[in-house]
Amino acid sequence: MGSVTRKPLIAGNWKMNLDHLQAVAFVQKLHWTLKDAAHETDSVEVAVFPPFTDIRTVQTLMDADKIPFALGAQDVSAKDSGAYTGEVSGAFLKKLDVHYVIIGHSERREYHAESDEIVAGKVQAALRHGLVPVICVGETLEQREESGPTAVSVAQLRAALEGVASDADIVVAYEPVWAIGTGQVASPEQAQEVCAALRSVVADALGDAAAERTRILYGGSVKSGNIASFMREPDVDGALVGGASLLADEFAAIIRYQKHVGV
Ligand code: PGA
Repeated sequence: MGSVTRKPLIAGNWKMNLDHLQAVAFVQKLHWTLKDAAHETDSVEVAVFPPFTDIRTVQTLMDADKIPFALGAQDVSAKDSGAYTGEVSGAFLKKLDVHYVIIGHSERREYHAESDEIVAGKVQAALRHGLVPVICVGETLEQREESGPTAVSVAQLRAALEGVASDADIVVAYEPVWAIGTGQVASPEQAQEVCAALRSVVADALGDAAAERTRILYGGSVKSGNIASFMREPDVDGALVGGASLLADEFAAIIRYQKHVGV
């Protein structure tokens, strides 16, 4: 698995699922499932990314019950404040103890026409407010066939890291579009190939120390049955999980991948 210096990160992207009441039940269930399994919370970092409307409630619950998950948001405005109807400032997220923010998810690139330039602006906004951007990159099947496995992700990450300081705390997520929500998972070798190329991009843009420190996740149809095979790859430091992060037992099993045979 990934370098010993990088703590694995298992991140649950809820997308537009679970209202704030369902979120309470879910987070409690996940917490108790892990506790019952005597999961060692230090071995893997767990993060949940609820919809904006759940964040305050989830933060209050995790604080009150000392639940050791990191809190993330699914998007952030490139602007800090002002007349931007419907946008959410990084400053507001920071006040709610939000630590991570997903930026450039393929669903936002596709349905909200987020360009590399918009993504780069959001990365800057996250860093300005002390949030850790989880920068998502990945190719469609057509792009993979046209330009090979790494070209699109490499170009997207280069653009997102424009102007980022070498000591910035970032996370990168390689999510091949053809593997998201399709059940058509990338092979561990395919994930490793792109994640290694992305680590080289981080090295070029931010230096070797940043490349060594930065966690690179794989995302796309991750399940309890395949997570261990990804985590064995040297440049895969965790997973960004969509559908399977909505089932407490399944997500707990993903988090406990080290218990699976052969890891
Ligand atoms: P999936 O989604 O696990 O449902 O494929 C991953 C993601 O979009 O982050």
